[in-house]
Amino acid sequence: MNLEALLAARLRPVCAPADPAVRRSPHADYQSAAALVLARTLDRPARDVAADVVARADLAGLATAEVSGPGFVNLTVTGDALAAAVEEIAADDRLGVPPVTRKQTVLVDYSGPNAAKELTIGHLRSTVIGDAAVRLLEWLGHDVVRVNHLGDWGTSFGMIIEHLIGSGAAPREFGAAELSTAYRAARVAFDADPDFRDRARRRVVLLQTGDAPTRAWWRRLVAGSRRDFLVAYRRLGVTLTEGDFAGESSYQDQLADVVAELTAKGLLTSSDGALCAFPPGFTARDGGPLPLIVRKSDGGYGYATTDLAALRHRALDLRVDRLLYVVGAPQRTHFAMVFAVAEAAGWLTGGRRAEHVAFGSILGPDGRMFRSRSGEAVTLAAVLDEADARTSAPEVGVGALKYADLSSDRRGDYVFDWDRMLALTGNTGPYLQYAHARIRSLLDRAGGFTPGVTITEPAERELALALLAFEPVVTGVAESLEFHRLAGYLHDLAAAFSAFYERCPVLRAAPAVRDTRLTLCRATGRTLRQGLDLLGIATPDRL
Ligand code: ARG
Repeated sequence: MNLEALLAARLRPVCAPADPAVRRSPHADYQSAAALVLARTLDRPARDVAADVVARADLAGLATAEVSGPGFVNLTVTGDALAAAVEEIAADDRLGVPPVTRKQTVLVDYSGPNAAKELTIGHLRSTVIGDAAVRLLEWLGHDVVRVNHLGDWGTSFGMIIEHLIGSGAAPREFGAAELSTAYRAARVAFDADPDFRDRARRRVVLLQTGDAPTRAWWRRLVAGSRRDFLVAYRRLGVTLTEGDFAGESSYQDQLADVVAELTAKGLLTSSDGALCAFPPGFTARDGGPLPLIVRKSDGGYGYATTDLAALRHRALDLRVDRLLYVVGAPQRTHFAMVFAVAEAAGWLTGGRRAEHVAFGSILGPDGRMFRSRSGEAVTLAAVLDEADARTSAPEVGVGALKYADLSSDRRGDYVFDWDRMLALTGNTGPYLQYAHARIRSLLDRAGGFTPGVTITEPAERELALALLAFEPVVTGVAESLEFHRLAGYLHDLAAAFSAFYERCPVLRAAPAVRDTRLTLCRATGRTLRQGLDLLGIATPDRL
């Protein structure tokens, strides 16, 4: 059992009904805020309550306690308890993180590019954050369903196919660059020529009603894009595969039925010929109720209808407990409305929850959206090429790229900066990869040792406490999906390791001390490797 849980168990009887709330603290090994909560319930001075907790708690053999500040209880664990706890996780394949006892089916909807276009840096965040979620939840023992909700059914296909059929070409697969050229030409015609715009719109209807020549082009274009997306996922080390594609088109024959069900449940209102849901609490700019359009006035279905159908399928057919949508922050209202309608339709019952795992933008050095010199979105392939060109091993460039993303709070924006992400010091991927490789080489040089831990030096203590913090961090991130907390933890662990390594000689130490230190080294190396693996970042043994 981890130390936080052990300490909490000892405090619980003397601070009930308050939660013992034991956390790591910069002021002591651990700290409990329970007395502050309890004082409010009892209407007594918090420091007095904290003094009672300290006096009455049975911490024998585990820790010493003292009151601090306004009524915190500071806990200092004994060297023996710390040694025993760290010895246990060092001997554990899972580093003290047991598989969950309540296994869920979790669906992660991520990447989801538009199949009429090339992947750009705009897809990096969803792809990387979603893949980290998948890796973490799977490692914790959940059943994870990956879904790549490909945009393969909308206006952009009408546009591009109309353009290609107009140019007289025969259907075939395109490469990414060719697709981009065709998309750009179609876009120009669409914006400049009202006649083309009409034809493109009719082409969408032809696609959706099954017109053979339209479908022939569509099938090949989508196949080409899927192939290219898979190449990019492989280069990125992302676990999405062919079987995870469930494009918007795959819900086409459920859309009418979804609308019928929502109508029967009284959730739709017609408004200017369109059918809309008006979930309570959403207001338009003019102050009126905000509609979620479920069927357009021309009878067509849009993005929202597809998301409702997808959600219903995931909830009722796949019986998913937790639905995660890793999509940019601008779609916040869209998802809030879709979830509200799904809730009202009774699709999110029995503790099932849907969450929008929102993220901010990647910015250029000027603080605006990151673009190429010509003002276009930078393709992901170009970013990956540059990552390779700037580094000696592909794992380092890609690792740096992913780490820069995952180490910044996903809710905010961040500035894309090669020099910063590739730096060998600071909170970067390369720093952690080097820290890991250095430990590997130290262990190689050490040869055999007898695992076991006795803590004497302060730096050993700090490193042991850092190792023990892996479990609470991982558990917290599985809930919050704030991967910057895991990244920050790994960086702190690596920093605790360097401080330890500076002060505590390892290979030259006396045999018993050497065993302790090598045990700590190996546990640190394994924690760095496991933690980076959860983020989807490789840890080569040599760099
Ligand atoms: N294709 C969408 C876009 O580029 C993202 C899809 C996200 N997933 C979803 N279920 N809507 O904006």
